[in-house]
Amino acid sequence: MACFRPADTAEAIKLLLWKEFELSRLCAGWMPAVPRFGCKAKLARLQYIHSRDMKLLHGRANELPGGLPAKAWVPEAVRELYASASLAPSVAAFFAGYGLLLEDLLQSYDKLGRDVDPILDAPTLDVLDIAGLKRRELAWVREQTREFLATEDGAASSLPDWERYVARLLELGKELGRDGSVPPALRWPAPFPAEPVGPVPVQSALDPRFPPYVFTEGKKPYEDPDASPLYDSVKQMHYINATEMSAAENLAYMYYAVQHFPLEFYYDLSRHLWDESRHAAMGVRRLRQLGYPTERFRYFVGGPGKDVGAEWYADMYASLTMVAEPCSFLKKRKSIPAFEAFGDELSAAHVEFDMADEQMHVNFGKKWGPELFKTYKNDLVTAQELAAKARLRRLQARGLTAEEEQAVLKDFPAFCGFTTNELNYEKY
Ligand SMILES: [Fe+2]
Ligand SMILES: [Fe+2]
Repeated sequence: MACFRPADTAEAIKLLLWKEFELSRLCAGWMPAVPRFGCKAKLARLQYIHSRDMKLLHGRANELPGGLPAKAWVPEAVRELYASASLAPSVAAFFAGYGLLLEDLLQSYDKLGRDVDPILDAPTLDVLDIAGLKRRELAWVREQTREFLATEDGAASSLPDWERYVARLLELGKELGRDGSVPPALRWPAPFPAEPVGPVPVQSALDPRFPPYVFTEGKKPYEDPDASPLYDSVKQMHYINATEMSAAENLAYMYYAVQHFPLEFYYDLSRHLWDESRHAAMGVRRLRQLGYPTERFRYFVGGPGKDVGAEWYADMYASLTMVAEPCSFLKKRKSIPAFEAFGDELSAAHVEFDMADEQMHVNFGKKWGPELFKTYKNDLVTAQELAAKARLRRLQARGLTAEEEQAVLKDFPAFCGFTTNELNYEKY
């Protein structure tokens, strides 16, 4: 090609965008499968970085002729390549494959950087700068392969074949058209001959340093002394945060499962997922700072735990964004002055940042909850009706009469009192 014209740049940017989308999905899908807390948190971060960069590429594509049509979706061959490369036989193999896919992505960024004119297409060059952050993460990804290889049973024997398999997929990927089209002669290799351990295992893997909570009839986990030694203290707020990795995991399952929504949905969901993992990380860090190791608490296992239909995701999302998150403001608002009164400004700042994120999540819920219900439950509802439904569902397990239910639903703090718990703000 003699020179890159705007339509050429647009095509190349779109292909980069789809690769970013697939990598974001890969990280989200594998995050529940890895059995280390720090590793989960990092994958939650990386899935967000990939989708954030997708958003930047999306913006640039729309400045160029052709742009990205509203209903545009990943070309089938690109999905096929990444889906095959995601079915790794071990966590170590997943990281090895991810490293190869990441390198391929970075090469595509470099190539476009060389192809475009530095004055005519300077706005594209600015966007391509986003590759730098991912280049730095490559070292971490490779380190994970080595670390899991040392601890994961049987991972070493299949690794070389797996790496060859992913490399072969990437080689074939270079033969795809620049719009992701497949040349007639291209034949994908047969599926890798080993059972994959991810992405999206039916149930999330828990880090051994985070023992699971056992639910018992009539007990609320956040009031249960067996779940937390801080159950009777305002510091319980940090424990609640520390358990949020399971919320991040539930959103990761959803990010992986929901198809053909507007890309805007994935951008919002991706940020939501990363935030919940940040909340977990900040809770764990503060508990440790205050002298409480993670082993002294109990945690929830993320994921559906069984094969579920699409309505599981719609219900889970509605209950998170329309019950759990709005109700959490009541105790968060009260715990800020409580922490301040005990001279713990850092804990107060935790809650304030948490609330800023949660406000955004509640807004995401209003925007996407009704869309999910429409698509997966054939249910046309407004955000308000959906919130009422999600709240009613939560109350139904409580054994109230119909009138009592209606009275509680009209009074939001009372409703939250029924479904969540208060903290002891007087005690540090
Ligand atoms: Fe949160
Ligand atoms: Fe949230």
